[in-house]
Amino acid sequence: MGAAARPDAGRAPMTPQTRPSAVALEALLWPATARPHLDGDISIGRIKLTPLTERFGTPLLVVDEQDVRERCRAFRRAFGDAEVAYAGKAFLCRAMATWIGQEGLSLDVCSAGELAVARAAGFPAERILMHGNAKTPEDLRAALGYGVGTIVVDSFHEISRLAALAAQGARPRLLIRVTPGVDGHTHAAVTTGTDGQKFGFSLASGAAAEAVRRVLAQRHLELAGLHCHIGSQITDPGAFDLAAARMVEFLAELRAAHGTPPRRLDLGGGFGVAYRAGDPELAPGPVAGRLRRTVQDACAAHRLPVPRLTVEPGRAIVAHAGVTVYRVVSVKHGPAGGLLVAVNGGMSDNPRPSLYGARYTARLIGRRGAGGERSATVVGRHCEAGDVIAAGVRLPADVRPGDLLAVPCTGAYHHSMASNYNMVRRPPVVAVRDGRARLIIRRETIDDLMARDLG
Ligand SMILES: Cc1ncc(COP(=O)(O)O)c(C=O)c1O
Repeated sequence: MGAAARPDAGRAPMTPQTRPSAVALEALLWPATARPHLDGDISIGRIKLTPLTERFGTPLLVVDEQDVRERCRAFRRAFGDAEVAYAGKAFLCRAMATWIGQEGLSLDVCSAGELAVARAAGFPAERILMHGNAKTPEDLRAALGYGVGTIVVDSFHEISRLAALAAQGARPRLLIRVTPGVDGHTHAAVTTGTDGQKFGFSLASGAAAEAVRRVLAQRHLELAGLHCHIGSQITDPGAFDLAAARMVEFLAELRAAHGTPPRRLDLGGGFGVAYRAGDPELAPGPVAGRLRRTVQDACAAHRLPVPRLTVEPGRAIVAHAGVTVYRVVSVKHGPAGGLLVAVNGGMSDNPRPSLYGARYTARLIGRRGAGGERSATVVGRHCEAGDVIAAGVRLPADVRPGDLLAVPCTGAYHHSMASNYNMVRRPPVVAVRDGRARLIIRRETIDDLMARDLG
């Protein structure tokens, strides 16, 4: 625990039996540098959250830069010479793109807007992949204009569009997005490896083989490899193995049909993380070991050269780095003695509960509760009954308006999916590291909201 964690300094020594202790943080959920303190506060990057909220207001998204960097390094270590491309859709701003770039990762973007952020951060074009099931001509022109290294093709129309654009000069390297027919057993809204959903070319129907033929037929296009992404928040490593094995089998079919097989194999992201105590989580080390072995074994069985692998973690890089701090606005007594604790944010800064039924935990910070604990549901301020942030959590029985609640694991798909529902302003993002706090995204103002309303 850091120096700031010792508010009892200078008092008479206590015996181990009488020494008060800070309430431990749940394993896995909080950022790498998060520490509990005796006064009930939590510090991240050696900065306590309560004073941070006095400076920047609430709701506030705090991002632990060291946590992000450590996870980037863990993925790079685990995957060795494979390319690790951070999926920018999880959370992207100039600071994040800079950290990712400095840690040697590539970056996956899926719109001209995300690409503009990468450009503004000076992210090397060669290390950018562009995704999207419906890239617009504007997206494609932006990608080719910046010299984006790789475009992941997702439809026959896109192949024609790219061929026409490439004939005017650029020669993009392409990956074909394949739907391998693998169910990652995750929420339907983020299941993308099975037939019948909107992403990719189906392997089973022959569409993927046809996409390869069409790209090869275009002399201005270069087929660099194959891509698949079976979904998000996947906690069964076997699903990744199955997808990898099917993709290698397809590479072998392509060699039989066309001679040399493509050199690159991108297996996407989707590595699941724990949102609440006890949730399963895929650690990069074991998952990388399995995946690399699966690919090597499948290649050996087909006598194929091992392709260069790419993986695209998003959530696994940034989810745990983020903690959102809300202020309690009201407390109601619900049925069976439970509390309904309403805070000053909700589905506008965290749409995941209403989109996927996701559930979080919450913790009172800034003071120690008195009078035991009660079961509580933390709800947002928006005009929907489904605006629930955390259900069935234990909070101090005396939780009251003005208190601060910290919600861990809010770094991924929170800020990037935030909205202005109910004309609520989106919260700021503050990066903390080594005792310094830096505002990297400011709070939206009412003027920001009104600026687009032209009367
Ligand atoms: C193509 C692709 N790659 C990577 C990701 C990242 O997924 P996750 O954040 O779950 O790792 C996504 C998420 O939707 C995706 O669509």
